[in-house]
Amino acid sequence: MCGIIGYVGKNKRAQEVSMDGLKILEYRGYDSAGLAYYAIDDSKLHIVKEKGHVEELEKKLEKHEANLGIGHTRWATNGIADEINSHPHKQGKITIVHNGIFENYEELKKQLINEGIEFKSETDTEVAAALLNKIYNKTNNMEQTLIEFQKQVTGDYALGIINDDDLETLYAIRNESPLFIGLGENENYITSDILAVLKYTSNYTELENGDFAKIKANSIKYFDKNGDEINKETKVSSIKYKDIKKDGFETFMLKEIFEQSKSFNNTVFPYIENGIDSLMKKMPDFSKYDRILILGCGSAMHAGLVGKNLIEGYADIPVDVEIASDFNDKKKIFIDNKTLVIGVSQSGETADTIKALKRAKEKGANALGIINRQGSMMTKIVDYVLYTNSGFEVAVATTKAYSAQIALLSLIALNIANHKNNIDKTELAAILKSIKELPEQIDKLLTEDCCTKYHKIAEKLYDKNNIFFLGRGGIDYSLAMEGSLKLREITYINSSAYSGGELKHGTISLVDDNTPIINMLTDKTVINKMLSNMEETRTRGAKNYLVTTKSLSDKYSPNVEDKIIIDDTHELLQPILAIIPLQMIAYYVSRLRKVNTDKPRNLAKSVTVI
Ligand code: M6R
Repeated sequence: MCGIIGYVGKNKRAQEVSMDGLKILEYRGYDSAGLAYYAIDDSKLHIVKEKGHVEELEKKLEKHEANLGIGHTRWATNGIADEINSHPHKQGKITIVHNGIFENYEELKKQLINEGIEFKSETDTEVAAALLNKIYNKTNNMEQTLIEFQKQVTGDYALGIINDDDLETLYAIRNESPLFIGLGENENYITSDILAVLKYTSNYTELENGDFAKIKANSIKYFDKNGDEINKETKVSSIKYKDIKKDGFETFMLKEIFEQSKSFNNTVFPYIENGIDSLMKKMPDFSKYDRILILGCGSAMHAGLVGKNLIEGYADIPVDVEIASDFNDKKKIFIDNKTLVIGVSQSGETADTIKALKRAKEKGANALGIINRQGSMMTKIVDYVLYTNSGFEVAVATTKAYSAQIALLSLIALNIANHKNNIDKTELAAILKSIKELPEQIDKLLTEDCCTKYHKIAEKLYDKNNIFFLGRGGIDYSLAMEGSLKLREITYINSSAYSGGELKHGTISLVDDNTPIINMLTDKTVINKMLSNMEETRTRGAKNYLVTTKSLSDKYSPNVEDKIIIDDTHELLQPILAIIPLQMIAYYVSRLRKVNTDKPRNLAKSVTVI
C-alpha cells in the first residue's frame, strides 16, 4: 500500500533518490505517485504528481540540483486515485507525504474550512498539512508544532514533512504506521519501508509511536511525543539490495516460486539441526494451552487452515482458524489465558491481523507470530515470533512465504505431538528424514519437464471464464482454496474452491460441458470419496485435472484430462509439495493472459488499512 521516501543531503539529487525509492516501493501496490523536491538552482519547491505508474512520473521530472525531497506511492483510501489526491500535499508553508489514516480528519476539516482554509483534494492528508501549517503559523517552531499536532489528531500516521522556512531539513513523525531513518554520510533518508533506501544504505534507526525527528544532511535529532530529546539505536538491515533483484527471472513471482527449497531450508533447518532436541528447545512451551486460534488474511489464513489440520491430527489440541477481519467484527470472542493465538503474516504489517492479535491479547491470550519480515509491526505485538526465513518477497501473490508458513505450522504440530508422546521413535526418525529430503523434492517439481507440463495445462485453461478447484478433507480442500486464490488474483479469471463433500449440496449445478476443475488428491483417507466426486463431475461434462501423489497414482487411474504426480513425503510435509503445481499453473495462465503478474490490478503486497 502507500509508501514514503525522503532525502536530505548534498551528495545526490533528491528527486533521483526519491524516484529510486518509489520504484522499490511499487511492489507494495499503489495507484498514483508523487514527489516534492527543493531545487537549489532555481530556489523553488517543485511538486510533481502522476496518476498511474512511477515511470510516468519520472518522465515529468526536470534536471535540477535538489538537496531535499519527499516522495510517495498512494493506494487510494480517502478520495479517488487521481493526480489531485495523490501526495505530496501542500498547505501554506508545509508540504507532506503520509501513510495511514487520520480518523478525525472530517471534524478537523470542517473547523479549518470555517477558519477560511480551502482544500483542493478529498484527502485526510491535505487536512493534516493545513493543521500543521496553522499550528506552525502560531508557534513558528517545528518541534512545538509537531508536539501540538499529535495532541489534535487521532489515527495512524507516518509523515515526511518539508517546511518552506527551512529547506535544509526534513521532518518525520509517526504513530502506528512504520517510519525509518536511513543513515548515510552527509546525507540521510526517511522511508516507510527500509527496502526503499537499501541501494544507498543498510544502516537505519526506527521511530516509535509518538516519536518525531529533525533530519539534516549532517545531523539527526530524535524527540519523544513530549518533545524530550531521545537517542536511537542504529540497526543494520539483514536484507541487502541484491536480494531485491529479479536475478535473471522474468518476474519476481517466478523467482520466488523457485526459491522455495531455499526458503524451506532456511526456515526449518535451524529447528532440527540437532534433531528433535533443537525443535523442543527453540520453540515456546505449548503445554500450558488447551486451545489454539490461528488468525490471518488471504493466503496466510489458508496456511492456517492447513496448519489446523496438521496440528489437530498430530497434537490432539483443538485449533480454530479465523479470518482476522471477521474476528475483529465479532460481537463476542471466546478467549482466555489458556488460548494460544497464532498470527500468520508474511509482511507483519497486515492491519486486520495486527488488530485481531491486539484484541485477543486484551482478553488474556498469549500471541505467537509466524512472520517473514523481521522488525515489522506484528513482531512487536506478539509474545513470541517464529520467523519464516523466506527472504524478501516482492510479488503480490505470495508463494515461498506461504509454503514456509505451512512448514512452521508442521513443526509446531511435531513439537506438541512429541511433547505428548504421540509420535513413536520410528515415525519421528521418518519425519526428520523426510524434512531433509524435501528441498530436493521441491526442486524436482520445478524441472524443465515439469514446467512444460504446467504450461500445457495452462494453455488449456487460460481462455476460460471460470475455473474450479476441488479438494476433500481439511488439507486438500485448504490447498484447493489457496490454488484458487492464486489463480484468480494473478489471472483475473473467476475461480472458486469447493469441498468434494459439498458438491451434491448445491455446487454441482455449476458443472456443465467443459467446466475445468483442478482436483487435489493427496489425502489417502478420502481417496474413494474423491474419486467418486471426480466421476460425478466428469459425467456431467467437466474437464478434470488432477494433482496427486505417486503412491495414489500408482494405485488408481481416474479418467482425467491430465494429471500431475508429486513425490510422496510424510503427511506433515505433503502440502508443501502439493501447492507447487498450483502456483505454477496459476503463473503460466497469468503469463498467457498477459497480466502484470507481479503487480495485479487493485492489489497491494501489504494491506496496511482495515
Ligand atoms: O502479509 P500477509 O501475509 O499478512 O498478507 C496476507 C494477505 O494479504 C496475502 O496473503 C494475500 O492474500 C496475497 N495476495 C495472496 O497471494
